[in-house]
Amino acid sequence: MKIPKLPPYDHNPEPYAGPSREAVADMREQYLTPALLTYYKNPLMIVEGSMQYVYDEKGRRYLDAFGGIVTISVGHCHPYVLQKTREQSEILQHITTIYLHPAIAEYAKMLAEKMPGDLGVCYFVNSGSEANDLAMLMARLYTGNYDIIALRNAYHGGIASAMGLTAHSTWKFNYPHSFGIHHAIVPDPYRGHWGRDDPEAGSKYAADIGDLIKFASPGRVAGFFAESIQGVGGSLVYPDNYLKHAFRYVREAGGLCISDEVQTGFGRTGTHYWGFETQDVIPDIVTIAKGMGNGAPLAAVVTTPDIASALTSRIHFNTFGGNPVSCAAGKAVLEVIDRENLQQNCLEIGNVLMQGFERLMEKYPIIGDVRGMGLMTGIELVRDRDTKEPANDECLQIFERSRELGLLIGKGGFYGNVLRIKPPMCITSADADFMIEVLDIAFGEL
Ligand SMILES: Cc1ncc(COP(=O)(O)O)c(C=O)c1O
Repeated sequence: MKIPKLPPYDHNPEPYAGPSREAVADMREQYLTPALLTYYKNPLMIVEGSMQYVYDEKGRRYLDAFGGIVTISVGHCHPYVLQKTREQSEILQHITTIYLHPAIAEYAKMLAEKMPGDLGVCYFVNSGSEANDLAMLMARLYTGNYDIIALRNAYHGGIASAMGLTAHSTWKFNYPHSFGIHHAIVPDPYRGHWGRDDPEAGSKYAADIGDLIKFASPGRVAGFFAESIQGVGGSLVYPDNYLKHAFRYVREAGGLCISDEVQTGFGRTGTHYWGFETQDVIPDIVTIAKGMGNGAPLAAVVTTPDIASALTSRIHFNTFGGNPVSCAAGKAVLEVIDRENLQQNCLEIGNVLMQGFERLMEKYPIIGDVRGMGLMTGIELVRDRDTKEPANDECLQIFERSRELGLLIGKGGFYGNVLRIKPPMCITSADADFMIEVLDIAFGEL
């Protein structure tokens, strides 16, 4: 067997001088919560990153096709982001929003200019969960309604309110967190009732939202949450026009439409800067996190001035939200995405990848579905293409074997049978070829 070779890359990792991998694993076991999940039977220790690559303690290079869970957007330790973050760190690290600071103001202006319609006011927080929690509060305050609709198979975060929005039993604990939240049928063209061959699938799935409003709510709702493409749920792309129909039902019932762009924003889908634009809708509230800071803890709720004013009835405060260092990182990320044409790169390399996945699908019957947009892609594994029995063990084998061959990918989907490939947006076509070669070997060995 020919072992695939990573594309050449001119970077020498620093010699690693820290504690051994075993010592780190022991400390982690003793001093960290057992609730933390580690990838791989034999967990990997990553000590350095440069653009789309990461290095383990022995200096071995891997192609990082999961980007720290879709968070490294422009590349690990991108030099310009580092420079801007360092410059800000050296003069002022923290001050809070009780004083004026240029970074937060300039960054909010830049972000607002990237948004369509009246989406022009930002509230900065530190994580996607917090952003969704705040969006829910705003929707309830603004509309005076309480009920919220979200989608089955969604992931919106791990704090109580976001766990309520999330609809995967694997991520939900047994305590009260979903009061007033109703989950509509997931518009899944692969596993759902209506497939890609049905041009009306979008409106058929959205009808369930109308039913929930009629039968599960008082007829009025505060809002509707949806990821633009479901991420944790397995890179699930909705049928065309789904969000258009969904938004119509929600708005008729007095609700606001909230797009969770935590994974799909900032050009990742290739054709558009924001994922919701691929469905030709403009939401009332957008929540963003992950890739916006390229690793800096940075998230935001972006909405209209009118909706934002709902939060002025009391004092609302967030200590780290809008931190100067995070905002400097966020500004640099926006600049890099434009300057380096990363949205276009997502489109081009995403197409190369998708063509590669389709070739693999022709070769390996275990691949039931390949899907995605730009660099937000997924491969769903099934034991039988008719019954669609999830091939989760096999998925795990591919995942482990890819790592051995130098490729880091993610996995997800409710059944754990979807390979999630969402690399930093700077990957090259040589990286894409490497990925396909690795996957070809891993599938061939099943
Ligand atoms: C779509 C989506 N929304 C929200 C979140 C929660 O973000 P965080 O982990 O920053 O709280 C995630 C995290 O994976 C996500 O994928």
